[in-house]
Amino acid sequence: MIVLGIESSCDETGLAVYDSEHGLLAHVLHSQVKVHAEYGGVVPELASRDHIRYLLPLAENVLEQAGISQHQLDGIAYTAGPGLIGALMSGASVARSLAWALAIPAVEVHHMEGHLLAPLLEAGAPEFPFVALLVSGGHTLLAQVKAIGRYEVIGQSLDDAAGEAFDKTAKMMGLGYPGGPVLAKLAETGRTDAFRFPRPMTDRPGLDFSFSGLKTFALNTWVQNQQDRQDTEQLRADIACAFEEAVVETLLIKCRRALDQTECRRLVVAGGVGANQRLRQRLQQMAKKHQFSVSFPRLEFCTDNGAMIAYAGCLRLLAGQSQPLDIDARARWPMEDLLPVVKQ
Ligand code: KG4
Ligand code: ZN
Repeated sequence: MIVLGIESSCDETGLAVYDSEHGLLAHVLHSQVKVHAEYGGVVPELASRDHIRYLLPLAENVLEQAGISQHQLDGIAYTAGPGLIGALMSGASVARSLAWALAIPAVEVHHMEGHLLAPLLEAGAPEFPFVALLVSGGHTLLAQVKAIGRYEVIGQSLDDAAGEAFDKTAKMMGLGYPGGPVLAKLAETGRTDAFRFPRPMTDRPGLDFSFSGLKTFALNTWVQNQQDRQDTEQLRADIACAFEEAVVETLLIKCRRALDQTECRRLVVAGGVGANQRLRQRLQQMAKKHQFSVSFPRLEFCTDNGAMIAYAGCLRLLAGQSQPLDIDARARWPMEDLLPVVKQ
């Protein structure tokens, strides 16, 4: 089965063609970073308009790169939520219209399920069951994954997502958008012993997260030290380093706890913050030491992309799932509401 995947939930237009027999045939991505940079964050209306501008040209482009015609497609998968409603509607409308014109089924994909399954696009994909750490700009959660579509959320952020905390901390120090990659780069030149930030909610049992206090801690450190220190650039780097270390260690502690609690030895990490090098390295070290396996998607499939949507959608289409013509995009959509995937 050959499936076109369309991702448009936030600030990236991602399209891909996935073939259930031959794997990923092609993927293309248009990032809207330049559109939103001057505002310091995503402007929803501008995001929707930009998706509309790029969706059809990218669809043509990805089919060409895959070396197939639109008539060879067996189905279309699109992100139906959660995300910015206008952005979701743009992708959903194009997906539904194409499917109708080509007389093929279209299937809704949950954005976080897409992220969660992205590591399965790689060679040596982990087997079920596993624990998934999903760390993106909109969500931070731990889920016990028994099979595709069977997700039990065992911990989540009570306030800011990890990526959001990266973005807000970067913004407050006058760094660009999106802040995660910029802050991570800066952290490389930070001194590890300059500041110690708290590890929120690690001193009590449970798997929930809270990152908004960490962002406030970073702001206070920034304000209090600016007058005393002439080396603003080094101060920024030191704060970035302490902040990143606190987020990474908090995630590490909760992952280990989740593995112990579920008696599982396999961890899968996905979402934009999964591209963070310090997080990847530290998880790999911990996996070696405590004898569990850890899998990540390749860097470009950590952040939003069409490949994960094409893949997740293909699995659902193969299981006979698809939705009628109505366009039903959802800004909010609990993962636990998803249907399990039962092979037909
Ligand atoms: O998964 P994603 O592309 O979009 C959402 O579904 O939210 O994640 C984007 C988030 C942003 O907050 C971005 O700052 C963060 O992932 N991010 C990073 C890194 N690369 C992206 N955070 C820390 N380190 C990185 N290297
Ligand atoms: Zn995402």
